Amino acid sequence: MAELPPGRTGTPIAVPKGGFPRDLEGAILELKRERNALVLAHYYQNDEVQDLADVVGDSLALAQAAQTSGDCEVIAFCGVLFMAETAKILNPEKKVVVPDLQAGCSLADGCPTEEFKAFVADHPGAAVLTYMNSHAEIKAMSDLICTSSNAVKMVREFEGQPLIFAPDRHLARWVAREAGRSDIIAWPGACIVHEQFSARGLAQLKIEHPDAEVLAHPECEEAVLAQADFIASTTGIIRRAVDSPSKTLIVATEDGVFHQIRRSAPEKTLLQAPGIDESCACNQCPYMRLNSLEKLYLCLLDLEPEVTVPEPVRLAALRPIERMLALS
Ligand code: 13P
Ligand code: SF4
Repeated sequence: MAELPPGRTGTPIAVPKGGFPRDLEGAILELKRERNALVLAHYYQNDEVQDLADVVGDSLALAQAAQTSGDCEVIAFCGVLFMAETAKILNPEKKVVVPDLQAGCSLADGCPTEEFKAFVADHPGAAVLTYMNSHAEIKAMSDLICTSSNAVKMVREFEGQPLIFAPDRHLARWVAREAGRSDIIAWPGACIVHEQFSARGLAQLKIEHPDAEVLAHPECEEAVLAQADFIASTTGIIRRAVDSPSKTLIVATEDGVFHQIRRSAPEKTLLQAPGIDESCACNQCPYMRLNSLEKLYLCLLDLEPEVTVPEPVRLAALRPIERMLALS
């Protein structure tokens, strides 16, 4: 697994008195009913967490599920903090809990509020389009939010206008090319998981598997994306893997997506795109993987840790999120 930054560790599991129930899955389902809770999970969660969720999806689908979460009283968000914050922003009256509050994101953490404020001030007149993978305070400074599945469409909302795109520089470059813009002002952030794929290793693997199709997430570096046959969000990658005429697929994203591909297309051979460090399964997101069945059980039992967003930030971030959802 890729490493968490120094000083960040997952929250230790507080084993309940008497231990965990023997049938942990059954106990989670029961708590889910008792709490009137909706469990949302991203594709990068462990298989067993995905299997217990009411909705498994990419970041756009999960935001949409939060927006239409109906009369549930609790949302248990198995993903990372920026996703759970978005669910809270959309549902101020509901309790939003997460298995581990330490499940952040290198992209979001690499774009601190004060620095970003100064960056925006340095480009007067530029609109701000922000990737979902950002803190609520950054969303609150934005004109529109996007995810990897709708970024190109969202960029087109700003035709003829100077545009800041934050915080992923690789996604910014890809989106600029797709939307035919060469003037996008990119915040220089990156994802530790997607940046670790090796362009050289991928080229070698393609030689060994000439019939394989290469599927990549747009957070990957340019030299990796240049070798991809198909570039899309996690949902897009899963759909393409299932529908592709190729039997063998090389996948350059977090390997949590393999679970849903295997369920729908067990006959496919799935190969992970190689990482720069061959001794490390660095294509696993260390933040996403802090969540576990035990922690999901505890957060439904204790209804904490709870995600909160200060009301002025929530109101300011709600506007660009709702604008994105209306356009999606
Ligand atoms: P998706 O929107 O494609 O699910 O991506 C989220 C993410 O964090 C990718 O690293
Ligand atoms: Fe953030 Fe990268 Fe993990 Fe996605 S895979 S949550 S961008 S660190």
